[in-house]
Amino acid sequence: MIELQINGQAVQVDDPSTPLLWVIREQMKLTGTKYGCGIGVCGACTVHLNGKPKRSCVLPASTAVGQAVTTIEGVNHVVQEAWITHRVPQCGYCQSGQIMTAIGLLESNRAPSDADISSYMTNLCRCATYDRIRAAIKTAAQQMPPLPGSKLPADPEEGAPKGGE
Ligand code: FES
Ligand code: FES
Repeated sequence: MIELQINGQAVQVDDPSTPLLWVIREQMKLTGTKYGCGIGVCGACTVHLNGKPKRSCVLPASTAVGQAVTTIEGVNHVVQEAWITHRVPQCGYCQSGQIMTAIGLLESNRAPSDADISSYMTNLCRCATYDRIRAAIKTAAQQMPPLPGSKLPADPEEGAPKGGE
């Protein structure tokens, strides 16, 4: 038995090897986080661990012990407003993951170039909303305060968030 903190709520998990995604979706009934590929590729399952985007389908729940897990239901961010402004979602399936990843990008880089966005936003979208995602990220970036003392590009190690890092 382990205990996780998901959106500020304590949750007990019997089997520490359970993928974090299943704890979120099946146990917590937080269905905004989606199951896509199940192998850490598509990004539909992206959540934050201590503010960093991670792919929860390939993360054992035990990985999240002692970390703040945040799902799309726990987010209230300017990125979401930009998504609405630019009417980004089509079918919507990938969009929770896209937003969680975009927040991760903007929390480390407040002036992302097209190249920065392309390298960080590795989430897949079968509806090909990539141009709108890029526009929404740039709008959100303009609405966020600058990072203290930082004109550095995003940490390259954060460039392709994957589970298990
Ligand atoms: S479901 Fe595709 S990366 Fe997790
Ligand atoms: S909006 Fe349909 S998969 Fe991205």
